[in-house]
Amino acid sequence: MDKDKAQEFFKHEVSDYKSEHYGSGYRTFMSVRQEAFLDDIDKLNLPAASIALDAGCGPGLLTKELFDRGLNMYCLDTSGAMLNLAKSQYTEQDSPLPEFTQGNIESIPFDENHFNLLVSAGVIEYLKTDDTALSEFHRVLKKDGFLILSVTNSLSPIGILEGLIEWIKRNDFTRGLCNQLLSAMGRTPVRAREFEVRKHHPANFDKAIERNGFSIIKSGYFYMLPWPHPFDRIFPNASSLLGNKIESISNSRFGWLSEGYYVVAEKK
Ligand SMILES: C[S@@+](CC[C@H](N)C(=O)[O-])C[C@H]1O[C@@H](n2cnc3c(N)ncnc32)[C@H](O)[C@@H]1O
Repeated sequence: MDKDKAQEFFKHEVSDYKSEHYGSGYRTFMSVRQEAFLDDIDKLNLPAASIALDAGCGPGLLTKELFDRGLNMYCLDTSGAMLNLAKSQYTEQDSPLPEFTQGNIESIPFDENHFNLLVSAGVIEYLKTDDTALSEFHRVLKKDGFLILSVTNSLSPIGILEGLIEWIKRNDFTRGLCNQLLSAMGRTPVRAREFEVRKHHPANFDKAIERNGFSIIKSGYFYMLPWPHPFDRIFPNASSLLGNKIESISNSRFGWLSEGYYVVAEKK
């Protein structure tokens, strides 16, 4: 996987990212992930004015939710365009405004023992390995500070057609055909991705977190779909309706079928 290509992708994948994943009105991987994160963050009962970092904040919707809960927010992302999008949600009356910093989660530009909470939703999978970022997360968190991280679950069959989908997106003819269809449906066009998103086996991800000095408090799955991608985009209404009905499977012994996996951990 080419990390720079991933970073390049997120320089351009900006307004589409927000409208497609959070503003489409449909249930999406990102919207379900955000609900799961917020549920668990609310249960942590963090003291008022706790300091939190959204590492790889993207369009900053999770940051804004945490800001609205009274946390002192810091946002870090390699993409200046994503940071601008994240900033655009605040007015001059919002105070203290989150601090927006362009930078890399593998070399976090903050002092050690700084944060009470660090969230990083769907970012570590764009890196070559987990350990550099995890040791940085450990460094900047205070002792007993909390870490919440998500990845794409390698056990899930939801992405079974991904190779074929990426081939369709890379081929000019099939991509054109596909975008004509999407445009007729009023949906955002697709773009070819020149890098792979690393998928994680939950047990291996747990081990990586633990070997970097964290105790896992809770782990869980999220985002069940009745069928593999891209049928969720082709039938968004039915996918949202049925997906909501079967989401409880994520908390059952068949949770490993879900596309997302996340961990809540504490710095030892
Ligand atoms: C899939 S998006 C997730 C955004 C956000 N966390 C969310 O939940 O909507 C990945 C984000 O991570 C950022 N990113 C990728 N690699 C990064 C790195 N090494 N350091 C900081 N940010 C990075 C991208 O620019 C992009 O905004």
